[in-house]
Amino acid sequence: MTFFDIQQVRDQFPILQQQINGHPLVYLDSAATAHKPECVLQAMLDFYRTDNANVHRSAHSLAGRATQRFEQARQRVASFLNARSSDEIIWTRGTTEAINLVANTWGKSHLQAGDEILLSAMEHHANLVTWQQIAQQTGAKLRIIPLLSSGELDLLAFRAMLSTKTRIVALVHVSNVLGTVNPVAEIVRLAKQVGAMTLIDGAQAVAHSPVDVQALDCDFYAFSGHKAYGPTGIGVLYGRYECLAQLAPWQFGGEMIRTVTFVESEFNLPPLRFEAGTPAIAEAIGLSAALDFLSEQQAAGAEAYQQALLQRLIHGLQPIEGVELVGQPTERQGLVSIVFTHAHHHDVCQLLDAQGIAVRSGHHCAMPLLNTLGLAGTLRISLGVYNKEMEIDIFLQALRQALELLHD
Ligand SMILES: Cc1ncc(COP(=O)(O)O)c(C=O)c1O
Repeated sequence: MTFFDIQQVRDQFPILQQQINGHPLVYLDSAATAHKPECVLQAMLDFYRTDNANVHRSAHSLAGRATQRFEQARQRVASFLNARSSDEIIWTRGTTEAINLVANTWGKSHLQAGDEILLSAMEHHANLVTWQQIAQQTGAKLRIIPLLSSGELDLLAFRAMLSTKTRIVALVHVSNVLGTVNPVAEIVRLAKQVGAMTLIDGAQAVAHSPVDVQALDCDFYAFSGHKAYGPTGIGVLYGRYECLAQLAPWQFGGEMIRTVTFVESEFNLPPLRFEAGTPAIAEAIGLSAALDFLSEQQAAGAEAYQQALLQRLIHGLQPIEGVELVGQPTERQGLVSIVFTHAHHHDVCQLLDAQGIAVRSGHHCAMPLLNTLGLAGTLRISLGVYNKEMEIDIFLQALRQALELLHD
């Protein structure tokens, strides 16, 4: 196995070298957003310092260079996801906008009363609320795949729900509350048997293990740059080209057209057809640098390293009295949610913050899931490639102290 040099990784994140509330920062909230390595900051700064111009517009040399770097970034995303072509990569603001794009283009033009949209009970609001709106507007019905007590999808129920009425299965790859890794390749295979489209929300997946859209065989795959060590304001929708080619645009303006008269417009081919207006150019270049960084870490053994950290965290939590893990999935990535018998998650969160420890408490944009579980919220501990064993131990110690204090 390759040696994973954690200090060498941490050195690339200047933000980690600070004190919060008089203590060294222990950042355990990477599922909300990950920090950015120096190479990402440098790539964006370099772009603004040397190549800044608008893309796909002007004929001057600087604009040519900017366009080239921007399109190279798209190519980088395509190779990262193993897409067939960079024409299958659409820039969006993030996962949320990517899902909205599919819902507003494919959804509005293909769904009608009698059709069914299958989601799971562990969806983020980005996937749930969006399809809820489309269902209301088209008359299609939303159906929710239930969960087992382990926090895994009930695949038997899923199979029973599939029918020729199922038009799309839109599912999270890794749950942002439970950490469950869903068997998406198998789900896509089953969905295809009834002729349904498939959309995978990969917001929590891409930073933790390599994603191959051809192996998954899904029609759409969405993720956000900022959760994968890239900038905010940029994300990706992968779409199988045959699907994209059939879709009408949903936003209109510059860049997405080929010819325009006062009467009508002819639209560009995908992906530009779906990118109205000036895109987030420096952010795309920053994301490309982030994916280089991430691939490098993955090749050095980051996945096994983070799995070991996760196991250390789980084993450390299990014996603590008054702590309950939410969900016990066999396959888990990146995070753990816990609840307390004698304390409120917000109070614990505040006491941890006083020690410089950043974790998230609340409903994690998955209110229906928490309602199903009978919970008002959880405390979520999520890992990044830069976390170290000692930080897990500091967290566990601070958690024990916080619970003692709140119990008295
Ligand atoms: C599973 C999941 N889907 C979607 C999103 C939305 O991502 P963004 O806010 O970057 O669009 C998140 C963010 O937390 C998420 O965890």
